[in-house]
Amino acid sequence: MSAAPAEGRARLAALADRLAAAGIDEPRRELRLLQIEAGGAASLAGWPDSPHPCLEALTARRAAREPLSRIVGRREFWSRDFLLTPEVFDPRPDSETVVEAALAAMPSFRTVLDLGTGSGCLLAALLAERPEARGLGIDRSRGACRAARRNLAGLPAIVAAGDWARAVGGRFDLVVSNPPYIPGAEIAALMPEVRDHDPRLALDGGADGLDAYRAILADLPRLLSPAGAAVLELGFGQADAVAALAAAQGFRVRDIRPDLGGIPRAMVLGSRL
Ligand SMILES: C[S@@+](CC[C@H](N)C(=O)[O-])C[C@H]1O[C@@H](n2cnc3c(N)ncnc32)[C@H](O)[C@@H]1O
Repeated sequence: MSAAPAEGRARLAALADRLAAAGIDEPRRELRLLQIEAGGAASLAGWPDSPHPCLEALTARRAAREPLSRIVGRREFWSRDFLLTPEVFDPRPDSETVVEAALAAMPSFRTVLDLGTGSGCLLAALLAERPEARGLGIDRSRGACRAARRNLAGLPAIVAAGDWARAVGGRFDLVVSNPPYIPGAEIAALMPEVRDHDPRLALDGGADGLDAYRAILADLPRLLSPAGAAVLELGFGQADAVAALAAAQGFRVRDIRPDLGGIPRAMVLGSRL
């Protein structure tokens, strides 16, 4: 074995130890992904003998618990790549349950409203699946709106800044939302990747985590077409409370879909016809 590869492997082992000490579960896998970020997929040809010179700096960021997705500036969702900026909530795989539930509830729709669009991931996934539909995404964060516009480029969507649906007129076949639903007092105890890097506006659901559901459901009767469906992402243990808020606005629960971990994640609502 030549000295250089051995030296490279020793450097890599030290970086893996650094990530492990910081509480990262799969340090070697993450280092491979950071190597690809630094040097492209071709740089893996020399792996693990020649770690990229930038790997040290990227490892330091990850060891400080910056999420990998934030370091690389993008996240895959529904097989599409989404630009991430600091103002944007990092899309979660569990939110694909919302897309699945919406497509099952509304095999055909012409109009879709996404409240709290963030990166635009829900809207982009839905519009990609139904080319005949057009969409409107709303977010209170202007930075998120800018990122969503870029992520939705080429799709028939408009993104506007707003406070939920306050300024939205008209009716929609489909309304989706993944609102902030963490009770405010629980945010300090979240993992650093979430607490320190997802925008607070995207997490904080008020004292009981339900403020955004109250605001969205209050406007739903005037937003949803009579035969339409609304799909709301749920936080852990919130299904009964959200169903009660929906019932008070005249909606019935048509379906509740679990995420990959078996947790009820997407609630489908329809009008009581
Ligand atoms: C949990 S994130 C969801 C983002 C994206 N839809 C997703 O599923 O990844 C919640 C989003 O709601 C937005 N938001 C929070 N309060 C809002 C409000 N009053 N009006 C509109 N959007 C709001 C946040 O900026 C954030 O982008």
